[in-house]
Amino acid sequence: MKKKITIIFLLINLIIGYFAFNLQPTKIDYNLSEEKVEFLVPNNFPKPIYDFKGNLLTPTGFKLGRLLFYDRQLSLDQSISCGSCHKSSSAFSNFNRPVSRGVKGCAGNRNAPGLFNLAWQRGYMWDGRIDQFDLSSHNAIINPCEMANDFDHISARLQAIKVYPVLFKKAFGDSTIKSKYILNALTQFMAMLVSANSKYDKYIRKEPGGNFNDEEQEGYILFRQKCKSCHQEPLFTDRTYRNNGLDVRSLDKGRDSLTRTATDVGKFRVPSLRNLEVTAPYMHDGRFATLNEVLAHYDHGVQPNPNLDPELKSNARLGISLSFKEQNKILAFLKTLTDKNFINDIRFQTP
Ligand code: HEC
Ligand code: HEC
Repeated sequence: MKKKITIIFLLINLIIGYFAFNLQPTKIDYNLSEEKVEFLVPNNFPKPIYDFKGNLLTPTGFKLGRLLFYDRQLSLDQSISCGSCHKSSSAFSNFNRPVSRGVKGCAGNRNAPGLFNLAWQRGYMWDGRIDQFDLSSHNAIINPCEMANDFDHISARLQAIKVYPVLFKKAFGDSTIKSKYILNALTQFMAMLVSANSKYDKYIRKEPGGNFNDEEQEGYILFRQKCKSCHQEPLFTDRTYRNNGLDVRSLDKGRDSLTRTATDVGKFRVPSLRNLEVTAPYMHDGRFATLNEVLAHYDHGVQPNPNLDPELKSNARLGISLSFKEQNKILAFLKTLTDKNFINDIRFQTP
């Protein structure tokens, strides 16, 4: 009997410990100091798509966005913030969690993507169903399986916290908190998440720290032969939607949920490959835990989905043939896309 009780006691503790650790309550420092913010287009990048004219970037707007991003008050039961699923140490993805988990442990069906270079994106979410950056946070806030809240509720809650009306007034000229201001402030914070200081970028821009070793150099050549048709430089995506043969039949309809076109079933956006080292697991449903599994998929796992991309069936066999040696070289190249400056940038951490 005693043994049983001890075991139950231990189990309960484990469960509490698990949740306490996973929720990682963020204590926010609401101090009002601001720093200068400037959105700079890296030399090796194209022009961004987002038009800042509709939402001018200001130090207060950015500061407000950062506070909101890490504030658990945005979720219905105040248990999670945006930062719970989008962690700065993982380039704002949800490291080690295949699909995200919202309030009350609700399990979603997609992997939380990293958040960076969003101002260059054409569509948001894995299926690109949202075409405006300013609306990209809306879903997370109201989605019953994410923050499960509504804007009236959040506005009332924030209105009651001293600093917020002051900041909203300064950022948007109005101390009455409206949903549009909340979304715009979050966009200002997220627009600043630019990742363009990896070894690869330094190599391309011929800057110090940009020397590839032989393996990385050979990996880069292989990458350009085998992967770049879809993962185009410098964003490492051509910003289209394709099927890369994960399943014979796609359970998640992907792009079709928006377009209602049979040829779009199972198509997902071509994701960026920047910061892969810290954004595991991979694919829209987080099915692959490691990059080795991803490469094995391209070499011998590609399935004959009816919408499989022509690029992946252009040879005598499905997929992209990659010997072990080639896989290791590509892996070495992919690791040059990790941007430590970005991941450790203190402007983007919990305030
Ligand atoms: C419960 C976990 C969770 C929370 C909390 C969450 N997100 Fe997400 N986020 C996701 C998932 C999962 C996706 C991908 C959804 C899809 O493709 O359908 C996503 C997608 C996004 C995207 C689109 C990125 C892209 O590259 O297309 C943005 C932007 C974003 N979230 C911002 C936010 C903001 C801002 C908040 C807080 C208001 C937030 N998220 C809260 C899980 C979460
Ligand atoms: C035909 C276009 C195409 C080609 C060629 C291609 N990919 Fe992809 N890749 C995609 C698509 C589409 C996805 C997302 C699929 C999904 O989640 O359903 C993806 C996903 C990935 C991911 C997961 C990224 C993440 O954040 O989850 C990695 C890693 C990757 N590809 C690496 C490669 C490498 C390395 C090559 C070359 C050997 C390659 N890809 C060739 C289209 C392509």
